Amino acid sequence: MPGSISRLERFAVVGSTNDVVRGWLAEGTPEVCVAVADAQTAGRGREGRSWTAPAGAALLTSTGFRPVWLRPEHLWRLAAVTSVAMAEAGEEAAALPSGTILLKWPNDLVLQTTDDVRKLAGVLGETDGLGTDDPRAVIGIGVNGDWAPGEFPVELAGSMTSLRELAGRSIDHGELLDAFLERLDAAVAGLREGQFDALGWSARQVTTDRDIDLMRPDGSRTTVRATGVDTDTGALLVGDTRILVGEIEHVRLAVPGTTARIAV
Ligand code: BTN
Repeated sequence: MPGSISRLERFAVVGSTNDVVRGWLAEGTPEVCVAVADAQTAGRGREGRSWTAPAGAALLTSTGFRPVWLRPEHLWRLAAVTSVAMAEAGEEAAALPSGTILLKWPNDLVLQTTDDVRKLAGVLGETDGLGTDDPRAVIGIGVNGDWAPGEFPVELAGSMTSLRELAGRSIDHGELLDAFLERLDAAVAGLREGQFDALGWSARQVTTDRDIDLMRPDGSRTTVRATGVDTDTGALLVGDTRILVGEIEHVRLAVPGTTARIAV
C-alpha cells in the first residue's frame, strides 16, 4: 500500500463509496483514505445521474483528501490527477500503448475508435467544508474493468467499453487498483510540492481541436471548436474563452451537420 494511504477498505456492497469516504473524513479519518467496492446500491454520477454496474464488473473506488495544502483554485487538480492515474493504470492492466486512454473534459475516461468515442470510466468529485480550516474532498471513480462486452446494457452498448473488451481477456481489479494507487500516490506527492503534470493531463484531452456541443444548465446548447484546456484554471479553452466546469452541464462531441456553429 503506497505510503500516503492512511486507510484502505474493500467492501462487497456499499451504498456509494463516495458516501463511505465522506463519512470517514467527517469522523476525522486522516487523508488519504480509500474505499473500494464490488457493487453499489446507490452509486452516483455527475449531473444528478445514478451510476450502476453489475457486481464485479467495474472497479468502484473513492479517495478522500484534506487538501489544506492545495490552493482552492487548484482543487480541480485532484480529479485531474485521479483521471490520469487511472488512465495510466488501465493501460498497464490491459497492455494498451501509452496514451490510448483519453480524457473527455472535464473528467471522463474514453476510448477513441475510428468512428466514435466510448466511455470507459466516470469521475465524481464532491467537497465539504471549503472555505473553512477543514476542507475535505472525495474523488470517486467507476471504471469498466472486467465488464464482459456481452453483458453491457443494451441502451449503453453503443457508447461504452471496458478494459476487458480492449484487452480481450479478463481484468484483475486488484492489480488495477494497485497500479492506480501507486500512480495517484506519486501525483499527490507532486501536488503537495506544487507540481502538476500539466502536459500529461492536457495531451490526453479528446476534445482538443474537435467540434463539441456544450449543454448549459439553462438548457441552451452551442456547438464550438474546443482548442485545448487551461492547466491553471482547469477550464476548457475555446479560442481565448475559458469555460469553467460549473458553467456546463454536459459536453458531447458534435455530430457534423446537427447544429449551427455559434461562437462563444
Ligand atoms: C459520471 O460519469 O457521471 C461519474 C460517475 C462516478 C461513479 C463513481 S463509482 C465510485 C464512486 N461512488 C459513487 O457513488 N460514484 C463514484
